[in-house]
Amino acid sequence: MDGNGRWAENKEKPRYEGHQAGLKTLSKVIEFVYKYKISHLSVYAFSSENWLRPNSEVKNLLTLFEKAIDDNFNFLIENKICFHLLGNISKFPKSLQKKIENLKDYTRKNNKFHFYLAANYGSREELLFAAEKLKIHRKPITETIFKKAMYVPKLPDVDLLIRTGGETRLSNFLLWQSAYAEIYFTKILWPDFNKKNLDNALSFFDKKVRKFGKIN
Ligand code: FPP
Repeated sequence: MDGNGRWAENKEKPRYEGHQAGLKTLSKVIEFVYKYKISHLSVYAFSSENWLRPNSEVKNLLTLFEKAIDDNFNFLIENKICFHLLGNISKFPKSLQKKIENLKDYTRKNNKFHFYLAANYGSREELLFAAEKLKIHRKPITETIFKKAMYVPKLPDVDLLIRTGGETRLSNFLLWQSAYAEIYFTKILWPDFNKKNLDNALSFFDKKVRKFGKIN
């Protein structure tokens, strides 16, 4: 969800307003994706490198996460959405950690739609986390065994990865899970990303012939 800051700066607004607008876009995107019966959606909200931003921006983002949980708690439950957290939340304020755990617990059994929020997430950290867990494993490590040691083993491989904001890199996001992802880059800044842009990304994906290394 890249481009919140630039969106705000272009409008001579504080960066925080870009993140607020980004949250609104996220709500709409969840709604569209849900209606399209896509069953899994993962979003990159806060990378492990984002701590290097000014304190005030980090604080604003953490406050926004708490507000987002408070405002959407009932929506997630009513729509049978299962909430997953990808990342290490131990550095987050205790109140936010509690809200995240509570939301995970309440939605654990839902299976209509799976929403994965990557927060304090870094793919290399996730891979090291899995490797560390498997240190004492004596038998050969297969892909299945490795996958089970990751943050959320249930998270399926990524089919379509969308990056907004014009950059053409993965920035340490779901590197293992995106091994065969179709990648769609767009210059649209995240707060401006709308249904038409989503439809364009989905038709880009529809046109792909996915061979997974085979000839046909
Ligand atoms: C990257 O844009 C975006 C983020 C670091 C934060 C993403 C957060 C949201 C979309 C809102 C909150 C979401 C939840 C789930 C509560 P950037 O700030 O790096 O933009 P820039 O590259 O234009 O500076």
